[in-house]
Amino acid sequence: MSESAAGRVNTSLRVEVFPTRELAEKAVADEISALLRAKPTAVLGLATGNTPVGVYRELIRRCAAREVSFARATFFNLDEFCGLGPADPTTFRAWMRTNFVDLVDVDVRRVHIPDGAGDASARARCALDYERAIGDAGGIDLQLLGIGRNGHIGFNEPGSARDSRTRIVELHPWTREDQASGFGGLAHVPTHAITMGVATILDARRLVVMAFGEKKRELVERTLATKDDPAWPASFVHGHRAARLVVSADAAPR
Ligand code: F6R
Repeated sequence: MSESAAGRVNTSLRVEVFPTRELAEKAVADEISALLRAKPTAVLGLATGNTPVGVYRELIRRCAAREVSFARATFFNLDEFCGLGPADPTTFRAWMRTNFVDLVDVDVRRVHIPDGAGDASARARCALDYERAIGDAGGIDLQLLGIGRNGHIGFNEPGSARDSRTRIVELHPWTREDQASGFGGLAHVPTHAITMGVATILDARRLVVMAFGEKKRELVERTLATKDDPAWPASFVHGHRAARLVVSADAAPR
């Protein structure tokens, strides 16, 4: 691993470059495992998508080997699509169950995923309840993040404010495009989602932003070159007191 204390903007973000994606994933799994050993009741903020799958795979392996336990932990996911039924296989809820939740020892009563079903007033209530539930759980100890093609974190699309909270958002055309294959075509991708806000994310005690693969290099470079700019929501992580940007060599800034 090589480390550099600063990107192009003045930042306290720790940038860590690993030779391979697997080594980077192990390092993130190490941080989560250490957190759970120190605090078995830790509250983890989780993400879906391609970026965190290897971390989940490693944590599943460690859990099966009894090297780590989620039995007393609490999970809060970043986001969920609107308008899908609870049994719909394309929800992030279903994705989380298949890729992580059902494969570790977490108590499902402590797994929280925002609910995008229901009408507008039900969703608005759900957003408020989600913020309250995070507070009631004592706040998020560690939040995992990936970076979207347009710089989004969670589904905080360009234009999201620093002080935004859990809310309903309209998905950016690129975000919908990137989800199209999972929905059998763009026409079937929901237009709206519910997401933790930027402020909700920044309230987490630690952030781990991950980016792997050549396609993410430009996104990493832009994140390092931009600070506190709603046009590039990932740029808000510079203001966080304990944030790591964990990248594989092929995603590292040149
Ligand atoms: C996922 C999420 C998104 C993704 C981002 C990157 O819950 O909130 O912000 O982290 O779109 O997606 P991948 O990892 O698929 O490249």
